[in-house]
Amino acid sequence: MDRTQIVIPAVELQRQREFIRQLAARFGGLGRAPAALVDTYGCQQNVHDSQRIMGMLRDMGFDFTGDPYEADIIVINTCAIRENAEKKVFGAVGQLVHAKERNPELMICLCGCMVQQEEAAERIRRSYRHVDLVFGPQALWRFPELLWQACTGRGRVFSIEDEPGSIAEGLPVVRESAVKAWVSIMYGCNNFCTYCIVPYVRGRERSREPADILAEVRGLVADGVKEITLLGQNVNSYGRDLDAPMDFSDLLAELDKIPGDYLLRFMTSHPKDAGEKLFDTMARCSHVARQLHLPVQSGSTRVLREMNRGYTREQYLEKVRRARRAMPDLVLTSDIIIGFPGETEAEAMETVSLVEEVGYDALFTFIYSPRPGTPAAKLPDSVPRAEKQVWFDRLLEAQNRISAQRHRAYVGEAVRVLVDGESGDAQWPLASRTNGGRLVHLRGDASLVGQYVLARVTDANTWALFGEALQENHT
Ligand code: 5AD
Ligand code: SF4
Repeated sequence: MDRTQIVIPAVELQRQREFIRQLAARFGGLGRAPAALVDTYGCQQNVHDSQRIMGMLRDMGFDFTGDPYEADIIVINTCAIRENAEKKVFGAVGQLVHAKERNPELMICLCGCMVQQEEAAERIRRSYRHVDLVFGPQALWRFPELLWQACTGRGRVFSIEDEPGSIAEGLPVVRESAVKAWVSIMYGCNNFCTYCIVPYVRGRERSREPADILAEVRGLVADGVKEITLLGQNVNSYGRDLDAPMDFSDLLAELDKIPGDYLLRFMTSHPKDAGEKLFDTMARCSHVARQLHLPVQSGSTRVLREMNRGYTREQYLEKVRRARRAMPDLVLTSDIIIGFPGETEAEAMETVSLVEEVGYDALFTFIYSPRPGTPAAKLPDSVPRAEKQVWFDRLLEAQNRISAQRHRAYVGEAVRVLVDGESGDAQWPLASRTNGGRLVHLRGDASLVGQYVLARVTDANTWALFGEALQENHT
């Protein structure tokens, strides 16, 4: 892709700011602060996209509310990864008909991955007539202009053209935490795993310029942010499309030079592109967390080939060995799909055995969900759901045992944690994370929020650790 074609020019972004000003004047006429509700489904990328939508809404003068009956505008940021996610969205959108009846001026907007699919957009066009504006992930930077059209035009607005995608720098953003932040380093995906809808809805891979990423991270560190998560569908292919190519490890090493007390995390890494250079860079960089989310998806080489993952079971296991050699204290997590079309019980059990062999700290597990338009959705799939559930439960049982065991090993240890918020639980009032990203429910004073502290781990279960703050840690 030609870079000049994908970077949105400054004059275009200036035009969007003009629409923001016009919308501020329009909604300013209500005689009170207008209210917006932003509801987000799906992954961290979507959470971060919603923060940008909220940034634009804030600049239009909106306050935020959780009550649809109080809102002047509702934005639902949708997910398409599995059928369940879509069902939830359609349920939520259906409910909004009541809010629209009560306030016909209410603007209802749908954005994100689900609406980028033609069939879903068609269903909204036909059966969800109370929705005013629909736009896909590639159109996010044009939200002000689209909203203006929806508010002032005669009809509903749909912006879901099949675009390869762009990069828009400098969009406003509402950060919900002063302690943690997301930073997108690239957008889109070129991998076309055969089960996955993402490449069809989020466009082709495109990387932000290193200078823009460095400036953003520097700004966050200067603002006191303590944990920054770099986001991309496959961060390991970062930089391939840049004019002066730079790979993800080089970017990490550059970011690591920024002085300050903060941690860098990143997700997601595709195993086919994660190698020695990445592991060595992680081990060397003091700001990079000892945490790797390395989705394996399946433990069967045949199923991996059908999934178009680009590695075998043995190659994956070898990468894990190398990663652990470079970082013996590495916290390792993964995504798994059970019940891919044609998967046999023996193959599903190969996945369970891989999970036992690796000994992940935690897993994100899914039962395969056919996504219309993907190659896997056309494959015969004769195994009943109930049988897949049995395999899935065996996987969960194995992982729960492993997680509990790994967590037990922390008991009695002193670990450095970042206190990232209050929990609302009287017994364990603070929530904190270890360097490797494990959750520690903590006893301690609310004044510790936003700080690194040393904690003694006193207990553990399958999902989390429990402990008490020992002291403030100024190291
Ligand atoms: N069905 C089930 N799980 C899926 N994932 C992606 N597509 C599907 C699907 N069609 C899972 C993968 C991916 C995670 C984000 O969601 O495990 O890593
Ligand atoms: Fe989907 Fe595969 Fe791309 Fe991940 S790497 S977003 S699973 S196609």
